[in-house]
Amino acid sequence: MPENIAEPLLKWYDKNKRILPWRDKDNAYYTWVSEIMLQQTRVEAVKPYFQRFIQELPDVAALAAAPEERIIKLWEGLGYYSRVRNMQKAAVQVMEEYGGRMPEDFETLLSLKGIGRYTAGAIASIAYGKKVPAVDGNVLRVYARLTENRGDIMKQSVRKSVENDLTGQMSEDRPGDFNQAMMELGAVVCVPNGAAKCEECPLGHFCLARKHGTVEELPVKAPK
Ligand code: ADE
Repeated sequence: MPENIAEPLLKWYDKNKRILPWRDKDNAYYTWVSEIMLQQTRVEAVKPYFQRFIQELPDVAALAAAPEERIIKLWEGLGYYSRVRNMQKAAVQVMEEYGGRMPEDFETLLSLKGIGRYTAGAIASIAYGKKVPAVDGNVLRVYARLTENRGDIMKQSVRKSVENDLTGQMSEDRPGDFNQAMMELGAVVCVPNGAAKCEECPLGHFCLARKHGTVEELPVKAPK
């Protein structure tokens, strides 16, 4: 990894971040709901669903207590209903075991139904300022290009080493913004399919793939 990506990255983020309904709200429930919705659905499509969901079920207690047909109705069109069913099970867990407050700690978040490493990292860092990474597909693409890493990004071992590397880069004061900036960069600049906008990239002069003309070869996904 290059020396210090946090500084140019955060500077770029402050100038270019999109205004999103769940962003900069200091509410772990909002972070959770949005990150689960965003797992299989694009930002623009998620916005109205998110607004309606938190309007009808404004907190963990409301989600835990909602009848199943109501949560299914709120999810209609997003698909993958197991996501919202698991979220409700986790909400019940949070009510019973943590007094209705979303846990702050990465490992505790991981123990909740439907919360994997990415979502646990996103909640801990964005809502609670913990220095843990949140590595999704966008972040993996940025990382693979930046470091010209040809590891198979579908592999857990590769993902773990990416997490380690990124933790070393994260600033103590803004870990949530660091993670969101990486996601944002992958979503709007370091995009796939021949559309990368390298000339707009705040990390362009660090980027090994750009230097070597291999941006569109990365990331590598080995065939199953
Ligand atoms: N994609 C998933 N979560 C995101 C977030 N918090 N910011 C930008 N893009 C995202």
